Amino acid sequence: MYGKLTGYEKNGQLVTIHYEKQDMTLHVLTPEIINVFVPFYTKEHRSKAIEGNKELPTTFRIEEISQTGRENCIMLTTDVLVCKAYDNGMIDFYDKAGNLLCADYRQKRIPRFELQESFIEFIKQEGHEVDMAGSMDYPVQCVKELDEKDCIYGLGDKTGVLNKRYYEYENWNSDIPDPHEDCFKSLYKSIPFFITLKENGVYGIFYDNTFKSYFNFGKENNSYYSFGSDNGNLDYYFIGGNSMPDILANYTYLTGRMPLPQKWTLGYHQSRWGYDSEETFRTLAAKLKECRIPCDALHFDIDYMDHYKVFTWNKERFTDARTLLSDLKAQGIKAVTIIDPGVKVEKDYNMYEEGMKNGYYAKAPDGSVYVNAVWPGDAVYPDFGNPKVRDWWGSHLEFYTDLGVNGVWNDMNEPASFNGPLPNDVIFTDEDRPSTHGEMHNVYGHNMAKATYEGWKKLTGKRPFVITRACYSGSQKYTTAWTGDNQSLWTHLRMAIPQQCNLGLSGMAFVGTDIGGFGADTTPELLARWVEVGCFSPLFRNHCAKGNMNQEPWLFGEDVLNIYRKYVELRYSLLPYFYDLCRVCEKTGLPVIRPLVLHYENDKNVRNLNDEFLVGEQLLVAPVVEQGAVKRMVYLPEGIWYDYWTNKEYMGNQYYLTDAPLDTCPIFVKAGSILPKAPAQMYVGEIENPELILDVYPGCGSYTHYQDNGEDFAYLDGAYNEYLFENKGNGNLSITRVHEGYRDYPDIKINYIS
Ligand code: GLC
Repeated sequence: MYGKLTGYEKNGQLVTIHYEKQDMTLHVLTPEIINVFVPFYTKEHRSKAIEGNKELPTTFRIEEISQTGRENCIMLTTDVLVCKAYDNGMIDFYDKAGNLLCADYRQKRIPRFELQESFIEFIKQEGHEVDMAGSMDYPVQCVKELDEKDCIYGLGDKTGVLNKRYYEYENWNSDIPDPHEDCFKSLYKSIPFFITLKENGVYGIFYDNTFKSYFNFGKENNSYYSFGSDNGNLDYYFIGGNSMPDILANYTYLTGRMPLPQKWTLGYHQSRWGYDSEETFRTLAAKLKECRIPCDALHFDIDYMDHYKVFTWNKERFTDARTLLSDLKAQGIKAVTIIDPGVKVEKDYNMYEEGMKNGYYAKAPDGSVYVNAVWPGDAVYPDFGNPKVRDWWGSHLEFYTDLGVNGVWNDMNEPASFNGPLPNDVIFTDEDRPSTHGEMHNVYGHNMAKATYEGWKKLTGKRPFVITRACYSGSQKYTTAWTGDNQSLWTHLRMAIPQQCNLGLSGMAFVGTDIGGFGADTTPELLARWVEVGCFSPLFRNHCAKGNMNQEPWLFGEDVLNIYRKYVELRYSLLPYFYDLCRVCEKTGLPVIRPLVLHYENDKNVRNLNDEFLVGEQLLVAPVVEQGAVKRMVYLPEGIWYDYWTNKEYMGNQYYLTDAPLDTCPIFVKAGSILPKAPAQMYVGEIENPELILDVYPGCGSYTHYQDNGEDFAYLDGAYNEYLFENKGNGNLSITRVHEGYRDYPDIKINYIS
C-alpha cells in the first residue's frame, strides 16, 4: 500500500514520510505523544475528542539511517520516545533507553483457527453463532506485535474482565437490552484508547476514528493485535510515559479531563423508571428522611414527560412541577431529569416544529427528514454534529433550569431506534460539512452531551451535571456516565468492577452502575452487596426498570435497610475524600475508582485482578460479589495496610482470608494515609460550613486537600483553599494552607488511628 520509503520533509513538528505510493505524517505533539496519520478519508484530522492545539514546543532529532544489508529508516527521537519509520509504512516505537515498546507486525497473519465453509453451515443449524475471529481485513487497519506477557486495559465500558488481552471488541455504540454478557463486543460507548502494559514498559494508543471499529487483542493470534475500521483515516496517537498514570495523564492531556463537579452530585441518588407522579416524589423524599437515608438527588425518568415529549412536563400527574421541585430542594433534594434525543413527530409541538423549520434533524439520503421510533413513537433525530443544533438544544434547556431542575440525564443517545438501525447513509453534519450516520454514530452521544453541558453552563453559571449513556473519547469534558441497563444478577455486580475500572483508565472518571441492577428483580442480599460496591462509584445511584420489583432500600427488611444506610453514611463521611479525588482527576486524569494495576503495575498479582479496586491511592476495597459468601480472599499489594473497620494491621504482598458477613465490605487503608472526612449530613450542604475530620493512619505520608464552594467556576479564579497535610508518623501531623481563597473550616479535628 505504501511501497518503499523515499524520503521525508520536516515542517515544524510535523514530519511527512514519503513512500512510493502513499505519504504518512508523524506529528510530534509533546515528547511523549506522536501522532501517526494517513489521510485515507479526509486531508485533515477531524477529531471530536481533541479540542484546541495540543502541540507543545518539543525538540526532537530526525535522522535518515541507511546501513548496508538493512532496511533504511527515518528515526525521530524526542526526550522520551524513539520512532522509526520503515518501508511499507511500518512504524516502530522505542523508549529512550532503546527498549522496543511497540512494533508493527510484518509477517503473514495466521488466525488461530479457520473453519471450513461446510462446517460453519453445520454448526449454524442449531442456531449457534459462528465467530469468524479470523484475520479480518478492514479498509483502515494497523497490526502490531504482542509479547507473551503484554496485558491490555482500557477501551471504555466493554464487558468482561479487566485485562482485554485475548479478547475481541467492536466500537459501535449499541443499546442492547439483553443481559450484558462477557462476550459482548460492544456496548453503549466507543472509547478507542487502550494501554499496553509490558513486562518492562508501558504505552498507550488512542485510535481516533469514529467509524465502526474493531479491536482484536491477540484473539486472532497470540503474537499480534490489530485495530481497524470500516472507513476514515488511519489516525492514531502513540502515547509514551514511565508508568500507567503517566500514560493516562498524557491521554487526558490530549482528550481533556473531567472538570470538577458540583459537590452534591457526589451524594446519593435515588431513581426508578416508573416514578410517575408528584405524589410519588413527595412520598420518596419523606420515606428517605424517615429511614434516615441521606440523599441528594431524585431522578425523573421519562414518566415526567407529556407523551414522552422532551422539554415538556405532564400536567396531569405533576400539576405543579415548580413547587414540587422547590419543596424537594427545601429538603436538600435536587432534581435530575432524563432528556432523550428523539423528538416526537407531532404537529404544533414546539421542538418538532422549530427543528423542522430550521432543518435541524438528520435527513434521509433523498433529503426528507429521517424518521425512526423511540419512546414517543415516530421520532426525528437532532443533528448534534451541527453547532447551530447544539446551541438551539442548549438554549431550550431553559425549560428545565427555569423550573428548578439541577441536572440532566441523557439517554438513548447511541442513538437508539426501535424501528431497526439507522442506515449508515442517513445524513448528519460534521461541524462545517455534511456527513453520514456511519461517521457520526459513535459521536452522537458525545455531541449531545456537549450541547447539554455548554447550554447548561450558559444558563446557570454552575458546573453542569450531565449523565450520558453513549459517548466517545473526550466526552469526560462534558459529562459523567453510567453503564446502562444492567440486570439484578451477581454476574453483573461482578462485572461492575472491571467495567468501571476500564472506564476510568479510558478517561471517564465519573461513572457508576445502576445499584441493585436495572432489569430483573434484585434480592435483599444482592442489594446489600451492591451498595457496598456502589457507594464507591462516583455516580452513586440506585435505579431500576419499570415492570420490575421496586428497589428502594426500605423494601427489603430492617437488616438490609441498616446495611444500606451504613454504606450511604460511609459515602457521606468520605465526601471530602471523593471531592479531592475529583480535583486530582481534573489535574492529572487519574480516575476515582482505579484498578490495583494502575498503581502497582510491577506486581504480577494485580494484572488480572477483577474483584478488588482502589479508591484513590489510600483505600483498597475488596467487596463480596458472590452470593452466600461471608469470607473472601483479599490480595494486598506492597506496604502495610489497615482494616478500615477494625484497624488491624496487615503486611502487603500477600493474600488473606478475611471475614465479610453481609454487613461488611472489606476495606483497607494504606499506611501513612490521611483520610479527610465530613460529619454526618442528610445531604450535601445540610451543615452550612462543616468541620473537617482527618483520620491519620500509622506511617508517613502526605496529602493535598482541596476546598471550595462546590458549585460554580469561581475556583478557576482562585476562590479555593488547598491544604498540605504531612503525616510524619507517631501522632505528628502538620497542616499548611498552600492556597488561600475560600472560607476557613470552623475546625479541623484530628483522629489518630492506632
Ligand atoms: C433506558 C435507560 C434506562 C431508563 C429507560 C427509560 O432503558 O437505559 O435507564 O430507565 O430507558 O427511560
